[in-house]
Formats: sequence, C-alpha cells, structure tokens
Amino acid sequence: MNAPLQPKLLSAFLHSNEIARLRDPDLNAARGLPASIYTDYDFFALEQKHLFPDVWVGIGFDIDVPLAGDAVPLEVGGLPLILCRDNEDRIQVLHNVCRHRATLVLESEKSGLKHFKCPYHGWVYDLDGRLLATPFWDGTSSAKRCPVAADSASLVPVRSGVWNHIVFVNLSGMASSLETYLADMQNELGHFDLESMELAHTESWEFDANWKLVMENWEVYHHVWVHQGVFDQMSEEVDMQTGNPCTDMIASNNCLMLRPNDFRKTSARPSSGLLPSMPHKKDAKDINKRSSIANAILPNVTASMGVVEFAPAVYTPIAPDKTLAKMAWFVPQGILGFEKYQPEVDKILERWLGPDRSITGRRGIRAQDHHCMELQQKARNSPVADDVRFSRTWESNVRYFQDWLVKRLEIAKA
Ligand code: FES
Ligand SMILES: [Fe+2]
Repeated sequence: MNAPLQPKLLSAFLHSNEIARLRDPDLNAARGLPASIYTDYDFFALEQKHLFPDVWVGIGFDIDVPLAGDAVPLEVGGLPLILCRDNEDRIQVLHNVCRHRATLVLESEKSGLKHFKCPYHGWVYDLDGRLLATPFWDGTSSAKRCPVAADSASLVPVRSGVWNHIVFVNLSGMASSLETYLADMQNELGHFDLESMELAHTESWEFDANWKLVMENWEVYHHVWVHQGVFDQMSEEVDMQTGNPCTDMIASNNCLMLRPNDFRKTSARPSSGLLPSMPHKKDAKDINKRSSIANAILPNVTASMGVVEFAPAVYTPIAPDKTLAKMAWFVPQGILGFEKYQPEVDKILERWLGPDRSITGRRGIRAQDHHCMELQQKARNSPVADDVRFSRTWESNVRYFQDWLVKRLEIAKA
C-alpha cells in the first residue's frame, strides 16, 4: 500500500541559505525569494493550506451584499464560502457546504433571498445558516417532524469581521482578534470616518500574476516609470539635494504603509477641486496629522487614500499565475448624485482606471501596476530569475513582506 501523501513544507522549497540571504542585515546585499515561489503549484498549495486559513484575509466588501437577502459565493484558501446579509441586516460568512451530503448550497450571486435551499435534496437554511427544513427526510412532507437537529446540521459559520467596508475572515479561528490584527492600520487611519463614505464605483477583474507581486508593489521606486502621466518626475519622489525619498516606507506587524514626508514634492494626491474633504471622526484628536496614502494589510488587502477617496481592494489567489482583484471607490457623503461634482468624481476614477475607464486599458494606475506584475510573472519562468535584489533606499517594504511570508510558513506543520 502506498504511504499517504504528505503536504510539502517550506523546507522543500527554500534552503536555509536562501532564507539567510533574504534576511541579510544589509538590504543591498540581500536577495529576494526565488522564482519558483511565484510559479510552483505545490508552493501555491502550501500557502493556501498554511497561510490563508491562519491569518485574517479580505474576501470582499459589505457593499457586495447591500440589502438583506443578498448573497455571493466565493473562495478563500480554496474553500467555498458564502458572504451574505441576513434578514436582521447582519453580514454573515458561512461555509458553502450543505450538511446533508456536502453540496454547494449557493451556486451564484443572488438577491432577495429569504433562505438558502440546497439544489440536491432541498434542505433549507436561514440566511444566518440555521437549518430550517429537511423535506421528506423521513418520507413525509412535514419539515416539523424532521429528525435532524438544527444545532448539529446548520451551515458552519466562519469567523468574520468588517473594517471600513472590508469584510475579513479567519478560517482557522485561531488568529488574534481582527482589532489586534489591524491595530497599526487603525492607528494610521483611525481619525478618518471611512465607514460613513459612499460607494462611487466598483470593479473586479483577473490578471496573470502571482498574488504576492501585489504586496511587493508597496514601494514608490516604480512610480515614475510605471505611472507616466500620474507621477511624472523623479523629483516628486526624491529630494534631489539630499537623495532622501519623499515617502516614508513603513512596515509593522501585518501592515505596509507609504506615508509622504513632504507634501510639497509628492504628486500622489490629486487636487480635490470643489469636493468636500475626507470625513473625520467627531472625536478625532489630530485631523491634520500626516497619514499614509497607500496601505497594505497582509496578506491580500490594499487600502489607498486619495484627497477625497478611499479605495480598498481585495486580492484572491486563483493559481500561481492568476489573481482575482476586487476594488471599490468610496467618496464622502454629499457628492454622489450632484451634477456639479460629477466631473471631479470622474477625474478620480480616471486617475485609477484611465480615461476609457477600462481596467485593461493600461492608462490608469491600477492597470499600469498589474501590467508590470504580469511582466514580472512571465520573467519568473526563466532559470535566471532567482537573483532578485532590493534597493536599500526604496525597497525595505518588499523584503519585509517576503520575510513576513517566510516567518508565517516556517511555523506551519504538515
Ligand atoms: S446534499 Fe444538500 S440536501 Fe442533500
Ligand atoms: Fe504603482
């Protein structure tokens, strides 16, 4: 008889020498993760099994299910889930697995649901997952005489929470609280009232690159070359006299941030024109504090701040070379629906999506970034792609993320 297959652990992919090299105290001398970490299906399986279930992962937005009875199926770590809004107006995340014989209960996005009904034998669940009926289980049509106990056969809930419109889950149930996980980001952005902002636009699309390349894009070194028309001159990114970047690169716990340290030089924020400014919490102490404009919550959420827009995104790995992105743009209340403000809202969206508002049009920030990630992914099929390096001046966040990933996987057990 064959021995059972053991999932490979980190040591099967990374030699201790490579980990030591990644952690070289001199960032210029350090070397990044080898190409196989971005292309290998077994490594992808390791991440899906030992990274994504153990941390807080973004799955979408509360506005994906705006009304009671709205529900969408999705996957995290390869597991099928349901995101829905129940009849009490609460966000629920449930395992999308019928408790009879394990069929997907929700096949596609739905609205106006009163309950979930399994397509195989018609078992019925409330929108909070509680088992309501098991028709003809005992040969009769009466659901009341159902002998299956609801407390042992309801849809299994997933640990979840919402932070500023972003829905997070922790599949293992073992991570620290969501509040603790997000503490550094809350500290940075907590003075803004992001919760009160209204949805202006949303997009979702796939691109042909590994999910990690999104998190490794949390540096401003690429701005002038990739985002032509948005960031035009290197003098906007670096003080030409001192050689110091105009952005502080901040990495702590599960967060990466890019915080301008000289607003006179950075063009990162477009003119707000006529628009009302970003809302602040009533009890916010320092509303003028300089805060980060580009934020990443590891492993798969980004949260960008414009002068008047909050633009979070969630990235779901589909394969080593394929990622699904969902992005939303929120603006302060009192803007949407007013004709005089519409040109300003259009300007904001054009900056991200290009004038044709096409995510593949390559003329907006987001598509420009993803195009470069696709080029990186293709290059990683080469045998000479293992020797990647970091600039001490610009790319400390990139090394931080790679080390964060390695540390998470070092503790994984088969
Ligand atoms: S598998 Fe769902 S009712 Fe049978
Ligand atoms: Fe970029």
